[in-house]
Amino acid sequence: MKNFEVLLSKKAKEIETALIKQISFIKNTPQIIKDSMSYSLNAGGKRVRPALLCWSAEAFGLKSLDVMPAACAIEMIHTYSLIHDDLPSMDNDDLRRGKPTNHKIFGEDLALLAGDALLTYAFETIARSGALKSAGSKNTLNALSALALRSGASGMIGGQTADIFCEGLLEGKSKRAAKLAPLKYFKNKKPVYYLLPAKAKEVSAAEILKYIHKNKTGALISAAAEMGAMLAGADGENLKNIRKYAAAIGFAFQVVDDILDATSTSEKLGKTNSDAANKKLTYVSLFGLEESKKAALKAVREANAALNNLKLKDTRKLEPLRDMAQFIISRTY
Ligand code: IPE
Ligand code: IPE
Ligand code: MG
Ligand code: MG
Ligand code: MG
Repeated sequence: MKNFEVLLSKKAKEIETALIKQISFIKNTPQIIKDSMSYSLNAGGKRVRPALLCWSAEAFGLKSLDVMPAACAIEMIHTYSLIHDDLPSMDNDDLRRGKPTNHKIFGEDLALLAGDALLTYAFETIARSGALKSAGSKNTLNALSALALRSGASGMIGGQTADIFCEGLLEGKSKRAAKLAPLKYFKNKKPVYYLLPAKAKEVSAAEILKYIHKNKTGALISAAAEMGAMLAGADGENLKNIRKYAAAIGFAFQVVDDILDATSTSEKLGKTNSDAANKKLTYVSLFGLEESKKAALKAVREANAALNNLKLKDTRKLEPLRDMAQFIISRTY
């Protein structure tokens, strides 16, 4: 695993250099908004999503440099999601990536705007990038659509909405959980929760949790892996299997995030652990630590099985993806 961590930090440096370059292209704007964007973007972070995008593209025959603007874009969206996630009206956290959260330094108004700007700039970065020429315009458009879908209301934002609406659910104190869909009624004086209008049915807390994890975290991790594959022109069974792999590691990633929030310290994590204080519905709060560890392990086995089903010219290119799955469950930060 140590070798993989060296590989990841090498890739992170390449990504960070590219991110700084991308931000330098922003013109005609007050310096303060660029500063606020850069503050969070350049604060470190594991860079798991952009690295995944690069390695997925490499597995299907492209070079990392060919897809770097797309890798930067996904990190911009991830960083925006963290800035907003930390706001007082969301998780209300003070520490992120080892530094005070964006709103603590720049104020809530600028933190909101820096998040908005990073989200928009992510799409601009891909759309105007000559560097994606090697992927071709059709593949680039497919990747852009995937990014929009996964980070929007049908993906990450849906997950974040359910996450905050389920605070207090396990203590029976969530008034908002029943608002997750327009349908709501009471049975034996207890609210019956509907998750999505399209799937109008009674759901358990476990199902809601699955929806939260799949979307608030899994969606962007899935976007990373599938965008790399799409840019390289992967389709059919290969695209299906890379999506299975990504969905499994995305789920495991959030289960481990829940475990670390419950067991580690904010010094080690570089962020506030606030799940208990916020009464979050998490894997740990619903199933306990042991079950959480088992679930993460099972997901990583599923991820590896999906990788084994890929048909590639050079299977050695799968090594970083395999190691990434292992890293996700063994990480301590
Ligand atoms: C934290 O993501 C937010 C979640 C989706 C769990 P990371 O653990 O990847 O955070 P950074 O990018 O390394 O700071
Ligand atoms: C965050 O989940 C997911 C997104 C930012 C989309 P968490 O709220 O659990 O992430 P941390 O623990 O604050 O990093
Ligand atoms: Mg949150
Ligand atoms: Mg949070
Ligand atoms: Mg968390």
